[in-house]
Amino acid sequence: MTNLVSTWSKTTQILPENYIFPVDQRPGSVKIPLVQNIPLIDLSSSQSQTVEEILHACQEFGFFQVINHGVSKDLIDDTMEVVKEFFNMPEEEKEIYYSIDPIKSCKLYTSGYNYANEDIHFWRDNLRHPCHPLDEWVHLWPEKPTNYRDVVGKYSLEVRKLSLRVLELIREGLGLEPEYFAEELTGGQLLSINHYPPCPDPSLTLGLPKHADPNLITVLLQGSVSGLQIISNGKLRSAEHRAVTNLREARTSIVSFISPCLDTIIEPAKSMIDTGVPRFQPFKFKDFLKFYEEKKGDTESMMKVYKIKP
Ligand code: OGA
Ligand code: NI
Repeated sequence: MTNLVSTWSKTTQILPENYIFPVDQRPGSVKIPLVQNIPLIDLSSSQSQTVEEILHACQEFGFFQVINHGVSKDLIDDTMEVVKEFFNMPEEEKEIYYSIDPIKSCKLYTSGYNYANEDIHFWRDNLRHPCHPLDEWVHLWPEKPTNYRDVVGKYSLEVRKLSLRVLELIREGLGLEPEYFAEELTGGQLLSINHYPPCPDPSLTLGLPKHADPNLITVLLQGSVSGLQIISNGKLRSAEHRAVTNLREARTSIVSFISPCLDTIIEPAKSMIDTGVPRFQPFKFKDFLKFYEEKKGDTESMMKVYKIKP
């Protein structure tokens, strides 16, 4: 038996007590300022224009939407369809991939990383698996639906290409040396598929808590990207975000995280230390991830440790 929301929520009209957040964390409680104009970047514009726009968006929001990005609409539609099909499979089919092991890399689970230790759960199921290099991981991915590996494999390659293209534009905007975002900083890629089933009372619960992603760059299908702040010595932002649920419709998001390799030392780029003082401590990426999990992604606690006091 699993405790997937997509399974048990089909037969209930009531939001269970352990999904109800304290008033100050509920969706409507604080007015989260809506970004009125999410920067929209047309990747078919001239290179100098996109470099400038992306840099501005990263400094201002840490988040933007891309169009004319080169990932075909057919591939996007097929990928969305196959992942939705996955979550709609009967319990017995999904059970095979289910795991509550917090460190297992390919798995289906529900809520946060450590369900058993949570006071309140999130209204989401998640399927995640590493995807780079593809041949190393694809055999661990779901075998059903039967076209899952084929379609999602193609998508993961395309979305990786897009991420590296955007990083290249950021690199140019920051004036970092060519090859700065080499394999060491971009060798990890995780595909994380969030499924938020229809929820009996979206005003009381959350799909995902407030967090900033702990990786280098994220591409969210349909379109938000954020970057790791420390690389740029505090010049770029990593947007804090969260997910809320819907009353009638399930929402599925496909998130690709590009990360450094686990043993890579992360530190401000030498050419970014313009005042002569780095603003962040160097760290090994895997230690950072461990700490991120301990602190539940709380940006303030993370910054306290890594930011060097002026
Ligand atoms: C994430 C995330 C948002 C969403 O997976 O890190 O922020 O819309 N997802 O699912
Ligand atoms: Ni996120």
